[in-house]
Amino acid sequence: MHVEGRDRKIADDLLVHYDVHARRLPWRAPPGANAADPYRVWLSEVMLQQTTVAAVGPYYAKFTDRWPTVGDLAASEDADLMAAWAGLGYYARARNLLACARAVVRDHGGRFPDTEDRLRALPGVGAYTAAAVAAIAFGRRAVVVDANVERVVARLFAIDTPLPAARPQIRAAADRITPDARAGDFAQAMMDLGATICTPRNPACGICPLRQDCAALLTADPAAFPVKAAKKAKPHRLGHGWWIERDGHVWLVRRADKGLLGGMRALPSSDWSAAPDSTPPIPARWTTIDEPVAHVFTHFSLALRIHHAHVEAGVTPEGDGAWWPIARIGEAGLPTLFARAAEAVRKEKHARD
Ligand code: ADE
Repeated sequence: MHVEGRDRKIADDLLVHYDVHARRLPWRAPPGANAADPYRVWLSEVMLQQTTVAAVGPYYAKFTDRWPTVGDLAASEDADLMAAWAGLGYYARARNLLACARAVVRDHGGRFPDTEDRLRALPGVGAYTAAAVAAIAFGRRAVVVDANVERVVARLFAIDTPLPAARPQIRAAADRITPDARAGDFAQAMMDLGATICTPRNPACGICPLRQDCAALLTADPAAFPVKAAKKAKPHRLGHGWWIERDGHVWLVRRADKGLLGGMRALPSSDWSAAPDSTPPIPARWTTIDEPVAHVFTHFSLALRIHHAHVEAGVTPEGDGAWWPIARIGEAGLPTLFARAAEAVRKEKHARD
């Protein structure tokens, strides 16, 4: 078949399948319907970066309930938004979310710009998000490539250059198969295919609407695409965290805006390194929990050793922080690492009782 004809057939086959099988997701307009609210599309796309549909669901519901419009979000307090985001991870996204909402209100009268270029100029909006919002919310033709789409395209064309070097090739192929009409449906259809059929392992090639179009299916192992360069092992770091308790309260600090978990509430902790400083923030009779809390970040894994102690009424550690009621620790908006540390302390106390 002539290449152009094959490219068009891919989009046609996929959209016919999507019309019947599209996942019904809260931020989505049904197939073929008018585009969804740009604020909701943008919010969902930011949340869905690095995070699964299942994990995003409750956060999306909470955010749209509490901040139904971009104006409401722009008017929120930084600390409220950071706390509402707690647990979703990659906290720079939350800081950018607020900066972007405020820019939309300040510079665009509260309406999202409707082209890829102008979306790209907003704080925290990268190439992927700009393309996704332009296509899904405004029906613009845009080439939307996330990890799912990358996998589908690498398989369709049996691209055997290893990632990340294959990215320009994958993008060019995605561009060729993106239709002028229904670009938003097409992008989401590709995502759905990657999430449900063209999965990383054990793809369901037998029920794939693109099986006639797929070059990888003609090879011995379709799942071998995309080819990945060997991964470097993540470095391992250590850290210390301190649970300072006083009269049913625990001392929480706010982490510096810049850097990992920036702006989030946290337990006081040391630097995270091969040999972290283990000097506690305050003298006390410290007990150390045997099992450190383990957490894997993008660029390293961490073992955080948790120490806990009580201090007398009137004693307060130095620096910015606040006493938080332990009975309401779930509402503090602690990121997962520190929520796990709090849980480890709770368990240890329970074991002693
Ligand atoms: N992942 C990222 N964006 C998505 C969307 N709009 N639908 C489904 N999965 C997604």
